[in-house]
Amino acid sequence: MELAKRHLLLGITGGVAAYKAAELSRELQRRGATVQVVMTEAATRFIGPPTFQALTGQPVFTDQWDPRIDNSMAHIELTRRADAIVIVPASADFLAKLAHGLADDLLSTLCLARNCPLLAAPAMNREMWAQAPTQRNVRQLTADGVRLLGPGSGDQACGETGMGRMLEPDELAEDIAAFFTAQRLAGREILITAGPTFEPIDPVRGITNLSSGKMGFAIARACRQAGGQVTLVAGPTMLPTPRGVRRFDVRTARQMHDAVMDRLDGPQARVDVFISVAAVADWRIANASTSKLKKTADGAPPQLQFAQNPDILASVAARPGAPYCVGFAAESEDLERHGQEKRERKGVPLLVANIGHETFGMDDNELLLIDAGGSHRLPRASKTELAASLVNELAARLAHPIARS
Ligand code: CTP
Repeated sequence: MELAKRHLLLGITGGVAAYKAAELSRELQRRGATVQVVMTEAATRFIGPPTFQALTGQPVFTDQWDPRIDNSMAHIELTRRADAIVIVPASADFLAKLAHGLADDLLSTLCLARNCPLLAAPAMNREMWAQAPTQRNVRQLTADGVRLLGPGSGDQACGETGMGRMLEPDELAEDIAAFFTAQRLAGREILITAGPTFEPIDPVRGITNLSSGKMGFAIARACRQAGGQVTLVAGPTMLPTPRGVRRFDVRTARQMHDAVMDRLDGPQARVDVFISVAAVADWRIANASTSKLKKTADGAPPQLQFAQNPDILASVAARPGAPYCVGFAAESEDLERHGQEKRERKGVPLLVANIGHETFGMDDNELLLIDAGGSHRLPRASKTELAASLVNELAARLAHPIARS
């Protein structure tokens, strides 16, 4: 789990978004973290400490003079155990305190006494956010090395719309997880295809496959978490776009091909890595009908003719100055030999083979990495964990001079 063994001090200040911190505390624990909550007095007006006590299984602290910590040293004790302090929500008033080093309650004292990173998710009315003092404090905090998470823009509790809205708990959890992920792909442009394609027979029917897109989306997310700039070209799937990833939706193999080539050919195009995870249809219907096919009186079935689709991966790999290309393959037998042949045929340095056939739509998987030097296994794990291992493999390969085939 991405936050395993991380101990986070979740600081809650007075704002209506405080209720979202309850969901965040759950999400952080789901990702493996332990969470210790400290609240300001104002925060307790919006949500009660027992809620957090129940959700985190830890006592909640609000008072500098809390007798539960020896020597009245709560401000030192609590920070020394933390890998980071995360303030959610961070009110305008609390940002001002942080920027000026004020320490007049337990949470602000903790922040000043910390020896760990400080992250803060601002949440306030748009006018408060836009005011010169707040903007000055934000600049100061950034210069001081405080990591601000958001804010975003949108509907506000006060009924207005604009900048200052706190990020949603899942967005915050993603950003906190990324904060703890080694930025091994920082500065890399990564293009990924994912999901199935859909080849129309007529306006209401078509041929597709069982790919869910989960593996490709997990890889896109892992690349982003590791600091890469990620563009995802996705076939038809209901999966949500991973945070910070640019997404283009396509339906057919030819649309996927064109979308990929557009990313490679644009005036400022730069792609360092191409990861072809999509299950691209090998054939399309050459005589697809523009109107819905009707049953005929004689009961004769339609005669479908097939034409071969372009091989996207092989075309990218064959381009002069091609990005580092990674292929995926589902083979039913003799995995390593067929995988090695496919890798050479497509002209790619790395091919990732799914071990077993029943991986479509599942949440876990087992992979075999095949390159010019041989192969090695990534043992069965969740697609999220496998994607993180794959990113590490990729980062290690990119760190060395790239062997293109
Ligand atoms: N691929 C592609 N374009 C295609 C077919 C496949 O980009 N038209 C890519 C896939 O995204 C995958 C790799 O090629 O990364 C291997 O796909 P796979 O379906 O296993 O291989 P095929 O080339 O279709 O070979 P075959 O089905 O004959 O084994």
